[in-house]
Amino acid sequence: MKLGIDFGTSFSLGATVYLGTKTILLPGGTYGIPSVFYYDDWSDVLIGEEAEKEGQGNQAKNLKREIKLELTSSFSADGKKFSAKEIVGYILSYVKDVSLQIAGEKNIREPLEGVVISVPAAFTTNEKEIIRAAAELPTSRGGPGLKVLGFIKEPVAAALSYFSTPLVDDTKILVYDLGGGTCDIAIVKSDSRVAEKYTVIDSDMLRIGGKNWDERLQAYITKELEKKAGITVYGNPAYTEKIKRVAIEVKEDFSKKRPNSSYRDKVKARVDINGQNYGIEITEKIFDELTLELLNKTITMTKNLLQRNGGTIDKFICVGGSSNMPQVIKGLKRSFPNREIQVYEPEKAVAYGAAIYAQFCKERGVGTSVLSDIAPYSYGIRTCEDYDKNPDREIVVNLIFKGNRLPKESRHGFLTVSDGQTSVRFPVYESTLAKENCELYEVGDYIMEIELPLPHRPPKNTKIEVTMTLNADGLIEAVADDGKGHIIRGNKHLNF
Ligand SMILES: Nc1ncnc2c1ncn2[C@@H]1O[C@H](COP(=O)(O)OP(=O)(O)OP(=O)(O)O)[C@@H](O)[C@H]1O
Ligand SMILES: [Mg+2]
Repeated sequence: MKLGIDFGTSFSLGATVYLGTKTILLPGGTYGIPSVFYYDDWSDVLIGEEAEKEGQGNQAKNLKREIKLELTSSFSADGKKFSAKEIVGYILSYVKDVSLQIAGEKNIREPLEGVVISVPAAFTTNEKEIIRAAAELPTSRGGPGLKVLGFIKEPVAAALSYFSTPLVDDTKILVYDLGGGTCDIAIVKSDSRVAEKYTVIDSDMLRIGGKNWDERLQAYITKELEKKAGITVYGNPAYTEKIKRVAIEVKEDFSKKRPNSSYRDKVKARVDINGQNYGIEITEKIFDELTLELLNKTITMTKNLLQRNGGTIDKFICVGGSSNMPQVIKGLKRSFPNREIQVYEPEKAVAYGAAIYAQFCKERGVGTSVLSDIAPYSYGIRTCEDYDKNPDREIVVNLIFKGNRLPKESRHGFLTVSDGQTSVRFPVYESTLAKENCELYEVGDYIMEIELPLPHRPPKNTKIEVTMTLNADGLIEAVADDGKGHIIRGNKHLNF
């Protein structure tokens, strides 16, 4: 049995694949497990609904939401510190346990071979490596102990899920995934006549999601409440958490259809403070004014994606919980008047797609060629242009470029700088730059160092031929030829 996990900013969901054919969505019901973590020294670690329930009032300070957006952070509760990696590990562990429990109830008792985890379209290498490390944390340390078979971009997973539905022919679709923390888009084509059935034409992402809608509403409710109740919310986690929950409710109330198919044009935010109930009226107009800028940013990104790819798609598919907002669908229809826009399994498509992809993955990092994706970033190596003349003059030489088709291999020759050198170390940088030679100040993040051991201790100026690969999951691997025909595998020293 294999597992696909949609590890979301707000909700996580597992889907299993067994006997290589059937996909079962887990857990049952329509919604996922809240990606929420709670700790206190009496309750210990709680995840999901339990965490939500416990983390209210005075206990709100022990609650951590939206960890996916802060993967290099840490969180302390009741004097205990948790790294983001550990928190993600607890959440993935919980999703895995729920999935296995439900599989058990359906009498599926195959051993779990591994997992595919979906990630936002432009997650950085470090973000993916942290999620992988979290998934692989051993069960003895509260971790899920999962074997990661691969990663898939969230909108691409949703596309695979859409393509797998009966009666869908070969087609080219644009997926718009507005979730809790990011808006991910991709143009994906299916062609069942070839082995590489699914091709990602292009993808993009913004760090904008339902969370930002919540924050805008939360700020508005806070301001109004402070006026009405004469309180200060800032610095009071209990108030902040309460208002955040009310803001989410208000947002969701605007997307509830009434029996006559209309939506509400005003909603009352009700907040209890110190035993008194305050009502703050929020009209559709206020809601739109507070949040339209967010929606418009996602629409501009989508227009740009379409434009740079010639605008030819057969269908526009919307997924993600935030696509439930009528404001979003209205805005999309207005901006793309000639497109057929369909909301498709907003909460489940990504988990389904991850499970479908898991079916094609044999072992970690080796997806079969069923899917052809592209590099989300450019990757380069920091090196000296001419070490003897100017050892301080360092540049970054990009070897793999954003948009390259994966897996992508690229070679570059480097000279050793001293006699008997025992290893070479290459700092690797990730950026959006499209040129080959970049100045240090303009490249993006330093993400890792690749160490290539040189056991044969070559003389100075030996040419080392480095092959850097961005594999099907968008993760870096490197090997080098030391000039004597010895192939050396690089060790990655990650920067997190
Ligand atoms: N009916 C609804 N109306 C408005 N917003 C909704 C509704 N249902 C869910 N949402 C919002 O959708 C978001 C969660 O969607 P989803 O589960 O797709 O995101 P996620 O996968 O957790 O996040 P991401 O993919 O960005 O990491 C939350 O912000 C939630 O408040
Ligand atoms: Mg999502």
